Amino acid sequence: MPLNLAVIGGDGIGPEVTQQALEVLAAAAGAAGLTYKTTEFPFSATHFIATGHILDDDDIAELKAYDAIVLGAVGGQPNDPRLAGGVIEKGILLKLRFDLDQYINLRPVKLYDGIDTPLKGKTSKDIDFVCVRENTEDLYCGLGGIMRKGTPHEVANQTMVATRFGVERCIRYAFELARTRPRKHLTLVHKTNVLNFAGDTWHRAFKEIAEEYTDVETGYHHVDACCMYMVSQPECYDVIVVPNMFGDIITDLGAAIAGGMGIAASGNLNPDGTAPSMFEPVHGSAPDIAGQNLANPIAAIDSMGLLLREVGRIKGEPAAVKAGQNIGVAVQRVTPAFAGEKLDRSGYFTTDIGRMVIDALG
Ligand code: NAI
Ligand code: MG
Repeated sequence: MPLNLAVIGGDGIGPEVTQQALEVLAAAAGAAGLTYKTTEFPFSATHFIATGHILDDDDIAELKAYDAIVLGAVGGQPNDPRLAGGVIEKGILLKLRFDLDQYINLRPVKLYDGIDTPLKGKTSKDIDFVCVRENTEDLYCGLGGIMRKGTPHEVANQTMVATRFGVERCIRYAFELARTRPRKHLTLVHKTNVLNFAGDTWHRAFKEIAEEYTDVETGYHHVDACCMYMVSQPECYDVIVVPNMFGDIITDLGAAIAGGMGIAASGNLNPDGTAPSMFEPVHGSAPDIAGQNLANPIAAIDSMGLLLREVGRIKGEPAAVKAGQNIGVAVQRVTPAFAGEKLDRSGYFTTDIGRMVIDALG
């Protein structure tokens, strides 16, 4: 059966990088004898402004029939009043993640050869870890409210939620991942000294589950210290497990030390396969460089490697896993030729990089 992929190109550079990602996917799948089909969906800020339609429950029901979702990026100009209040973030990104129960946000932080890191003296040997960010709870689940708005007595609260169920399944995923890696080391990142309720749930779950994974070495860092170590000694990390908001922040730092937004790939995973997972570059729609063939498509291309490996695992398709691995290898063959996200300075264009990766697939 061919894989069935939903494609949401989105806004700005989203469709540009997605185009390259899909061309690489086609080449890798073709070489591995893997068949698939794609269906495009228009969900985006542009579509919302034009039609008033964001993404509703019928759309979610339709998307559930797919094996995976390819996402470019969604979002308009930062200060567009028509998009105020996080309507796109909540209406598209968070709705997809929550409704499809994509409870893991997987973000590899790996410095490829040839890519510049702003960290002095660090090489690809030092920066090679994976962040497992919980993706459905914490401060992002929308619990809270605002009252007496606009008065001097205004009150706002936004609740940090940690359920034993949600925390446990995330931590288990991280232990399973750590177990597959050579170093087998897992660090919990939180702020348990101050957030002593949610942090307590995380810490106890972590300690208890660790007893089932005696082959995995464990550690704990407060999130502020983690930011420092990611810069001063990133080699101390192998796998990090982290709640949603702290994960959002440290993974941007992770992207920066591994060469920038043009490089960082991610997967929003439903590891149980009860709904499709979604794969996207970490970056946004970059309105400042949209339409100029300047966006680095490596992050989007690498996300296709993650997609094929994950879908292959869930569907028991070794050809998909192999094609995914081949994309990862091909990307690492071409990165020495250019640096980070500054494509305009390195003399390459979006479409050149796509072509180079396809050539490197061999
Ligand atoms: P951004 O990631 O779009 O851009 C930040 C900076 O990095 C810009 O200078 C941009 O030119 C550069 N950049 C990003 N991706 C690049 C690439 N592939 N190659 C070369 N340079 C790249 O973040 P920003 O500017 O904060 O947000 C722009 C829009 O994107 C907003 O509407 C925001 O809400 C949305 N957004 C969407 C995300 C998603 O769809 N997952 C994630 C982050 C932001
Ligand atoms: Mg972010």
